[in-house]
Amino acid sequence: MRTAILSAMVLVVSCGLVWAAENAASSELQQVWLDELDLSKAIIGWGQIQKNKSVDSKPLVIAGKSFARGVGTHADSRLDVKLGGIGEQFEAWVGIDDEVAGSDQGKAAASVEFLVFGDGRLLWRSEVMRAGNPAKEVKVNIKGIDTLRLQVSGGNDINYDHADWAQAQISYRLTAPHTIDVVMPAPYILTPKAGPAPRITGPKIFGVRPGNPFFFTVTATGDRPMKFAVRGLPEGLILNSDNGQIRGAVKNAGEYKTTVVAENKHGKVEREFKIVVGDTISLTPPMGWNSWNCWACAVDDEKVRASAKAMVDSGLLNHGWTYINIDDCWMRREGSKDPVIGEPVRDKDGYLLSNGKFPDMKGLTDYIHSLGLRAGIYISPGPNTCAGYIGSWEHEQKDAERFAEWGFDYLKYDWCGYSRIAPNPNLDELKKPYAVMRDCLKNTGRDIIYSLCQYGMGEVWKWGAEVGGNCWRTTGDITDSWGSMAGIGFKQAELYPYAGPGRWNDPDMLVVGKVGWGPNLHPARLTPDEQYTHISLWCLLSSPLLIGCPIEQMDEFTYSLLTNDEVLDVNQDPLGQQARRIAQANGIEVWSKAMEDGSRAVGLFNMNEFEARKGTVSWKDIAFAGQCQVRDLWRQKDLGMFENEFMADVPPHGVVLVRIIPAK
Ligand code: GAL
Repeated sequence: MRTAILSAMVLVVSCGLVWAAENAASSELQQVWLDELDLSKAIIGWGQIQKNKSVDSKPLVIAGKSFARGVGTHADSRLDVKLGGIGEQFEAWVGIDDEVAGSDQGKAAASVEFLVFGDGRLLWRSEVMRAGNPAKEVKVNIKGIDTLRLQVSGGNDINYDHADWAQAQISYRLTAPHTIDVVMPAPYILTPKAGPAPRITGPKIFGVRPGNPFFFTVTATGDRPMKFAVRGLPEGLILNSDNGQIRGAVKNAGEYKTTVVAENKHGKVEREFKIVVGDTISLTPPMGWNSWNCWACAVDDEKVRASAKAMVDSGLLNHGWTYINIDDCWMRREGSKDPVIGEPVRDKDGYLLSNGKFPDMKGLTDYIHSLGLRAGIYISPGPNTCAGYIGSWEHEQKDAERFAEWGFDYLKYDWCGYSRIAPNPNLDELKKPYAVMRDCLKNTGRDIIYSLCQYGMGEVWKWGAEVGGNCWRTTGDITDSWGSMAGIGFKQAELYPYAGPGRWNDPDMLVVGKVGWGPNLHPARLTPDEQYTHISLWCLLSSPLLIGCPIEQMDEFTYSLLTNDEVLDVNQDPLGQQARRIAQANGIEVWSKAMEDGSRAVGLFNMNEFEARKGTVSWKDIAFAGQCQVRDLWRQKDLGMFENEFMADVPPHGVVLVRIIPAK
C-alpha cells in the first residue's frame, strides 16, 4: 500500500516536471538574480548571508574585480532553490572575497569549494579556491531540475572562508524560482533502546574535597521502581535507596572503594564505584546541559526548570547527565532602564542580584538538586559579561560566596568583559583573574567545578590546571555547521597531553537538537552522520558534554545520540585520557583513546563530504598485535575477532566508532 502511494507521488512529481518542461519550452526566457530571492532559508557557517555585498557587508570583490550584484556568504553554506523543472541555466562568478586577502592569516586560512547540485547530483564544482584566486565562471545547464543546491564547502575549517556567488543569475521560463528550507538527509537511529533490567551508568569514579558537601546520584537505566544500595560507603554519607542520591560529607581524605547495586523486578546488578576524597574534583568530564546554544539571552527560570525536569522525565539522567547550567544573562545590567533586567546590580553589601527573569535563584537550585541534578552558573571576571551584564570585577570573593550560598556546583568564568581591564594581556595577565577566582571558590567550602572560558588564549591548556581550572575552552564559540564543529573538534589533536582527571580540554558545547542562540530555535544544521561524528569525537576527546538544546523539545534521534551508554562510557572512562590522532590519509582520520581496561576506543572519521570511504585501523598503530575483538559502540554489537587490522566503510562526514579489545 505504502509503495503504491509512494509510486503515485513520484509519478505526480515527475509528471509535474515533464509538464513544466514541455510548457517551459514554448514560453519566454526570463532571468532572476540570485540576490532577488529570499535568502533567509540559507544555511551559513558564520554571520549573515548578504545581498550584493560580502558576508562582512563590503562591496563584492574577487581578486581585484568588483561585482555590482551577487550573494556574499560564508562556508559551510547551502541554499536550495526550487525550480520545478522550469530552469534553463545557472550562471555566476565565484571566488573568495578580497576582504580576507588583506591579512597573512586570511590568505593562509581561506579555502573553499563552490558546488552546484541538481536533485542531489553534482553538476559543477570549482575545485579548491583560495584568497586571491581569480573568480571562476560557472555556467550550468539546469533543464529539468527540480531542486538546485548552491553550496560552499570549507573543508574542515571555516576560518576566513568568505565566499561570493557574484553576478549569480538563474534563467527560467514560466514561474519564477524560489528558495526552500534546506533539506537534510533523514536521521537514522543506531543506539539500541535501554532494556528493562537495571544497568548502572555514569562515572565509575567521583572526587570530592574533605568536609565539603557531597552530592552524587547513582544512575541506571531499566524499569522503575528500582532500589539502590551501596556497599562500603564511607562514614558521613547517606544513600536514598529510592532515587540513588548520596548526600553528606566525608571528613578524611582517601580512596574509598564502594560497590553500587541497582535492583528491579527484572534483575540485580552491581558495579564498582570509587570515591576519592582529596583535592581534585571532576575526575571525569562533566555531563549536562547549558542554556547558551539554545536560548542565549532569552533564558529564564521557567526554561531552565523545563530542561531540568525533562532531564529526569525523558530518562537522560539515567544515562549520567547531571548538570543544569545557566549561561549569560541571568544577572542585571548597569544603567539599564529595562524593568526586568533592572538596577541596582548588587545589594547594599555588594552581593550580586539576579534579574527579574530569575526571581529566586536559591529556589531554582533547590529544585534542580531535588531532581538529583547539579546546578551551574556563569559570569565574567571583567566589569561586564559578553552580553553586557554585570561581571565579577572587584567583587570576586562576594560573588563566589553568593554562588555557593545559592547552591551552585559549577562556574563558567568567561574572559570577555575582562578585555577592558587587560586589552593586550601577557601570560601573567591572562592567568591573573582565573587565579583570583580559584582562591575565592576554595574559600567557599563548596565543590564548584571551575570552567575557564577564554577561547584558548595563551595556550590555556598548558596552565589552566595551575589556576585551578577543571576544564578550559580551547577555541572560540561553536555554531551548528560542519565547518565549525569539525574545525574545532579535529583541531584538538595536539592537546591530548594536557587532559586528565580533573583537567579537561573543552572544545565548546554540543550543537545537536534545536539550537538558535535566542528565542527562535531551529534543528541543528548538521547531517545525521555529522552529528554521530560530533558526539563520537567529543567522547573520544574526553570533553565536557553540555547539551545545547531545550531538553523538553528533544526529538527521538537527538535522544538516541545522547543515550548510548557504550559511547558515553568512552567519555567517562576513569583513566581520563584524551584520544590521539594516530593516522590520517585519503580523507580518513583515525583517533584512538586508551581505556582503563586496556582496550582502545577508536574512531574512523571520514572527512569527505560526498562519498563513503574505507577506514582502517592497524593494530601496530595502537600497540596491539594478533587477534583482537572489535565491538561497534553505536550499535552495541560485537563484530568478531580481527587480526592485524580492522577496516570499515565510513559514511561521508561520518564515523565508525569501535572498541578494540586484545584477546586474553
Ligand atoms: C562567550 C562564550 C559563550 C557564551 C557567551 C555568553 O564569550 O564563549 O560560550 O558563554 O559568551 O555571552
